[in-house]
Amino acid sequence: MDMIDVIRTKRDGESLTEDQINYFINGYAAGAIPDEQASALLMAIVWRGMAEDELTAWTTAMISSGARLDLASIDRPTVDKHSTGGVGDKVSLVLAPIVAASGAADPMLSGRGLGHTGGTLDKLEAIPGFRADLDLDEAVRVVREVGCVICSAGPDLAPADRRLYALRDVTGTVESIPLIASSIMSKKIAEGTGALVLDVKVGSGAFLPAIDDARELAETMVSIGAAHGLRTSALLTAMDAPLGRTAGNGLEVSESFAALNGAGPGDLMEVTLELAREMLYLCGLDADPWDAIAGGGALDRFNAMVSAQGGDPHAPVPEAPEREQVQAPASGFISRMDARAVGIAAWRLGAGRAKKEDAVSPGAGVVCLKKPGDEVAVGEPIFELHADDPARFEPAGTALAGAVSIDPEPPDPCPLILERIRP
Ligand code: URA
Repeated sequence: MDMIDVIRTKRDGESLTEDQINYFINGYAAGAIPDEQASALLMAIVWRGMAEDELTAWTTAMISSGARLDLASIDRPTVDKHSTGGVGDKVSLVLAPIVAASGAADPMLSGRGLGHTGGTLDKLEAIPGFRADLDLDEAVRVVREVGCVICSAGPDLAPADRRLYALRDVTGTVESIPLIASSIMSKKIAEGTGALVLDVKVGSGAFLPAIDDARELAETMVSIGAAHGLRTSALLTAMDAPLGRTAGNGLEVSESFAALNGAGPGDLMEVTLELAREMLYLCGLDADPWDAIAGGGALDRFNAMVSAQGGDPHAPVPEAPEREQVQAPASGFISRMDARAVGIAAWRLGAGRAKKEDAVSPGAGVVCLKKPGDEVAVGEPIFELHADDPARFEPAGTALAGAVSIDPEPPDPCPLILERIRP
């Protein structure tokens, strides 16, 4: 087999054969195919797309490039959630313990943040002592003992994706629905979960802002799941405004504790409980996820998970020492709050990283003192910025300029759960 023929096949709009796909994925994962040839193939896929069979074979090859988590020792149904990422999206921290307290188990292998959307592991690592880097045996032990784990996927699952994703990041080839779908699904299938619910975000703070693109991504991932025997469904959920009132690692942990204590903001609870219902439905469990909050079971599971991963759930969550408020430029009702701008502000305050080696601040971020629908008077604070270094306020404030619209009339309420996609 010749890599130049593989590239030409896709360049000319034909489907790659299973042999060509295996040759490329195995060769690239092993370092035998150079980056320039891999880049050419990825760019051809961006332009030409992939047929359904081709995408199934591509995903299978990515899964086979590494280990699979063996969850056979877990004595309850396993189910996980994956979000395409949003601003203030702390759903995983509340959802995994709800699922664990409702009779299922969640082996949630997650990631760190890059760019304007925060990473679940960065948030949890704001808890003193919390370890996100577990080996696969440890991760399975925590799921068995607690009912949920949230940890990094590590180097062993779908290593081909790890190499390809790094290459896509620097070659302008991230934005391809088949490449995104196979990247996400290869990791989730290798994770060994019995069912999967995808939270595909739509709107200004989402990875793919347009609903048609988000729907196509969701449908593609649901089909990949079905082709691999994984019960998969997807919810399209709104990400025009930040979810909840905080964006930033420790701030989001504190808000998650409030949610687990039954005092979470309405939008966060609506999305979390709808995803939980869908997860329990896929497991065939007839439980009301709210009971796990009201009865304290979810908080108990969260604390147990944090302890099992080396953290102290009762330690104070770190706070940034410097604060600055951003005032309303007019009086009226907030009709729009741009999630992406809030995400960029949180990132510039120190909550996110520009390069994967960068450290993140546990305390930095944005508190939204007002949200869409709220009434404000001119000069009243809308945002509170938290940072370790006051020099960060100016660039964060620039990101927030124009992020909010204020109208004389209250806006119509916007639905958060936009569509449900089942196979
Ligand atoms: N997240 C992933 O894991 N892969 C992509 O390609 C995009 C987002």
